[in-house]
Amino acid sequence: TQLFSKSECLKGKRALVTAGGTQEPLDPVRYLGNRSSGRMGYAVAQALQEAGAETILVSAPTDLPAPHGVSRMSVQTALEMYDAVLANFPNMDVIVKAAAVADYRPATRAEQKIKKDGTNRTIELVPNPDILAELGRRKTSQVLIGFAAETENLLVNAQEKMHRKNVNLLVANDVTKPGAGFGSPTNIVSFLFPDGRRIDFPQMSKLEVARNLVGEIANLLGDCNK
Ligand code: CTP
Ligand code: CA
Repeated sequence: TQLFSKSECLKGKRALVTAGGTQEPLDPVRYLGNRSSGRMGYAVAQALQEAGAETILVSAPTDLPAPHGVSRMSVQTALEMYDAVLANFPNMDVIVKAAAVADYRPATRAEQKIKKDGTNRTIELVPNPDILAELGRRKTSQVLIGFAAETENLLVNAQEKMHRKNVNLLVANDVTKPGAGFGSPTNIVSFLFPDGRRIDFPQMSKLEVARNLVGEIANLLGDCNK
């Protein structure tokens, strides 16, 4: 893969990246969350910006500073992320869905802090919308990139997601490997394409993964084939 990041090859393109793990409130002081650090999505936003794209980052809570030159919209829940992404989608050329979106949210959100009473509790959960699948249904000319973090049957599960969500490229990573996935500064990924092509990468920094991804995005947009 060639690296295009420094060449401003996405100048004039508009990109939206989602990052971080959504938080689904139970009451004013508690939420259901996940182990996403946001690092992979932030690296993708940085690499797109370096390649010249006007880049929006729709970010669930993280400890990370917004990459230079990227405009950030902060959201907390999957529903907030859904609204922010869908509102911007029609104006975008590229969408990268690196966020770890909660599949479910608590059915109700208590107005006041929930009190303990010493008995067992059950939390009822209701499904969140699948943002990426919705984008796959609405897609016109946009390049749509999904991620799949798996703990088993990586390539089979990832292929199924790629087709089900109608994405142009799926980044698959086995989060059980040391040096990959949640919280790690590095990642070990494969890029899967709907035509059956696959590129397997060795362990590399998330920024290197992001720059390789931006190279493939440029190919998919048909730009920079110099
Ligand atoms: N995704 C999304 N909206 C959701 C859930 C997932 O947009 N409600 C996106 C993620 O951002 C990611 C891709 O879908 O790009 C795959 O997420 P993943 O959790 O691996 O797949 P799911 O379809 O949720 O399937 P499962 O968790 O059951 O494996
Ligand atoms: Ca999921």
